Amino acid sequence: MQSFFIHGPQEVYGSIEVGTSKNATLPILAGSILAKDRVVIENIPAFSDIDMMVRILKGFGLKIFKRKNNLYIHTYHKNSTIAEEKYTKQIRSSIFLLGPMLAKWKEATIAYPGGCNIGARPIDIHLEGLRALGATIDEKDGYLICKGDHMHHGELTLKFPSVGATENLMMASVFLEGTTILHNVAKEPEIVDLANFINQMGGKVIGAGTDTIYITGVKELKGITYRPIPDRIVTGTLLLACATLGGKITLHHCIPEHNESLIAKLIESGCHVKTENDIIEIESTKKRKNVASVVTGVYPAFPTDLQSIYMVFASTGKGKCQITETIFENRFGIAKYLNAMGAKISTNGNTAFVQGVKKLKGTQVVATDLRAGAGLVIAGLKAEGDTTVQHIHHIDRGYEKIEDIFRMISVGITRQS
Ligand code: EPZ
Repeated sequence: MQSFFIHGPQEVYGSIEVGTSKNATLPILAGSILAKDRVVIENIPAFSDIDMMVRILKGFGLKIFKRKNNLYIHTYHKNSTIAEEKYTKQIRSSIFLLGPMLAKWKEATIAYPGGCNIGARPIDIHLEGLRALGATIDEKDGYLICKGDHMHHGELTLKFPSVGATENLMMASVFLEGTTILHNVAKEPEIVDLANFINQMGGKVIGAGTDTIYITGVKELKGITYRPIPDRIVTGTLLLACATLGGKITLHHCIPEHNESLIAKLIESGCHVKTENDIIEIESTKKRKNVASVVTGVYPAFPTDLQSIYMVFASTGKGKCQITETIFENRFGIAKYLNAMGAKISTNGNTAFVQGVKKLKGTQVVATDLRAGAGLVIAGLKAEGDTTVQHIHHIDRGYEKIEDIFRMISVGITRQS
């Protein structure tokens, strides 16, 4: 098990280009199944979740290879519709393979998905929706055995605007005769990116980014070359790193409006933030003070994926901050490790009460999930003394060698086995 050794405190300076979004690329990778010929995904990010998804697709017989930063996916060699459990169990995103597999191949067998331990992660909305579109799904020995021969268009309302279920059902509908209407869908930028990808392949998806999406069935989709959007959570992580550690950084290749809710909180806290086209510049100031409350929610509210990292920022701000997590039921894993570093955080149900402290002290901590792990790296860089972050494989799922990312902004972190 690898760990990070971090000596703090350190400030950040410099500029960096933000990479491609994990949560946009994963559904687009799954959606490449829908194309009748080659799909090229440009600027593919090097996250372990992406590698896992590629292994699953190769397990179907698809020919996939990487050249420079592009991934080439040839879909006509398919010789299996079984997703191997050893891979599907490691990532949440394996579940939204069901939609494109049923749409294109009319059958799919996948084991229950895995993913960060931030809650129960049920898949009822996915299964209810697919069944409402005529799919048959048998659950046997931890596997979902699905058939899509008699699928039909429909009008559905999701009981919660689930990101993955929205993506799954959108992809499941692309070849269904007539128009499928999905209400109460997720509005994240990654949903819009997937719809753009499908439409550029010749699909007919309207309303992505709003509460209702209309998918009109087409006969086939052609392979294209596509570059997914930049990663708004990596962008937010870097903005929070600068706000927490001090210094000044410039982020390139961003979409600032995707981080509006965070930027508003950082400005309210006393940070100087400037945005222009695909650039965000942030400078932290000593006059930093905590905002009273942060509440996570579905986009465009404050993103749950930045909640743990925001907690690190609030831990060393002046005054109190109340953080309410409304999306996942177990996403305060970072709190006990921050308290071990000298933070003052108490939690009650889905609310964390943070009392800012002047200093954190280095110690040994454990990454409980992807974003908490990134938060602990920042905490280690803020703390006085030495910090070791263990279980850093979680972090590699959503950050391309985070030590290299931080080196670009003048910060040293050592990966040790
Ligand atoms: C996606 O997960 C992201 N992952 C998550 O990012 C992100 O935190 C989440 O959306 C919310 O924005 C990917 O895109 C690969 P949901 P997903 O379905 O689709 C409940 C990261 O750090 N729910 O919107 O799994 C669920 O339990 C990861 O990059 C059901 O009840 O999220 C949760 O409470 C972590 N039944 C809420 O909805 C279902 O069938 C939101 O889940 C599905 C979800």
